[in-house]
Amino acid sequence: MIIPESPIPAVNVAQVPQRSPLRYPGGKTWLIPHIRAWLGGLPSVDLLIEPFAGGGIVSLTAVMESLVKRCIMIELDRDVAAFWHAALRQGDELIRRVQAFDPTRSNVEILGNAAPRNTAEHGFRTLVLNRTRRSGILAPGASLSKKGENGHGISSRWYPGTLVKRLETIGHYADRIAFCETDGMQFLEALACDLNENVAVFVDPPYTAGGKRAGSRLYAHSEIDHERLFSILAGTGANFLMTYDCAPEIMSLIRLHGFSAVRVLMKNSHHTRLPELIVTPRPVFH
Ligand SMILES: C[S@@+](CC[C@H](N)C(=O)[O-])C[C@H]1O[C@@H](n2cnc3c(N)ncnc32)[C@H](O)[C@@H]1O
Repeated sequence: MIIPESPIPAVNVAQVPQRSPLRYPGGKTWLIPHIRAWLGGLPSVDLLIEPFAGGGIVSLTAVMESLVKRCIMIELDRDVAAFWHAALRQGDELIRRVQAFDPTRSNVEILGNAAPRNTAEHGFRTLVLNRTRRSGILAPGASLSKKGENGHGISSRWYPGTLVKRLETIGHYADRIAFCETDGMQFLEALACDLNENVAVFVDPPYTAGGKRAGSRLYAHSEIDHERLFSILAGTGANFLMTYDCAPEIMSLIRLHGFSAVRVLMKNSHHTRLPELIVTPRPVFH
């Protein structure tokens, strides 16, 4: 099966607005031009559902750029979920904590070792750990960034002014962003009958099939039944867009369901080019 290359290139983080306060492993900033083209071509779609939300860059961009009116973000990881609960419902409290925090190694360690007493505290803890651990990885066993990613110590990714601005903007749009802490697969399955052509679904699952990507190192929840996910989406009339690694198992599922796919060449941190797949029910990008 020959997968054509997308005419839209991947972009780097400097080329699109960064809207999420979280640095997310596997984050989809590079995909934003595709998301704009996809949602821009679906004028009757008002609602975007993102069942594996993570840092939520796609949902945030879609709502903030008026590509959709509303979105529902779903995430199973309780630490990440606490962040979104707090950002959407207790943004002022989160902002106060960001402004007051001194990101020394010892303060970060104290926060990391303490059990949070409420949602705001929990959400703030997630934000601090996400921005001070190596590559933003929150999964068990992730280590603190030793020298910082540009040699500036543990706080090299802690930009309070930027974080406050992003949190303020999220607060501004909070009435259009719903967040559910649950299993994204169950959510899709429960709603399958209501997922019609007026709904867009952006699917970026943790990927571990074939052992190609170390999803289990990156996320606390990394086991997904990919066959089931493809079947659920095939059984709905929703306009979905999925991203996956280019792996034989995924190619077979695309063929089995008659979906369409394009490749996007990504540069990783070693500047090698890795193809990622964008899968849609019908051709969108060629
Ligand atoms: C590839 S990441 C998503 C990254 C996101 N697109 C971004 O740009 O930040 C996959 C996410 O799915 C979450 N996840 C894993 N299993 C899940 C499940 N069953 N339901 C909901 N979320 C799940 C993981 O915790 C992780 O945050």
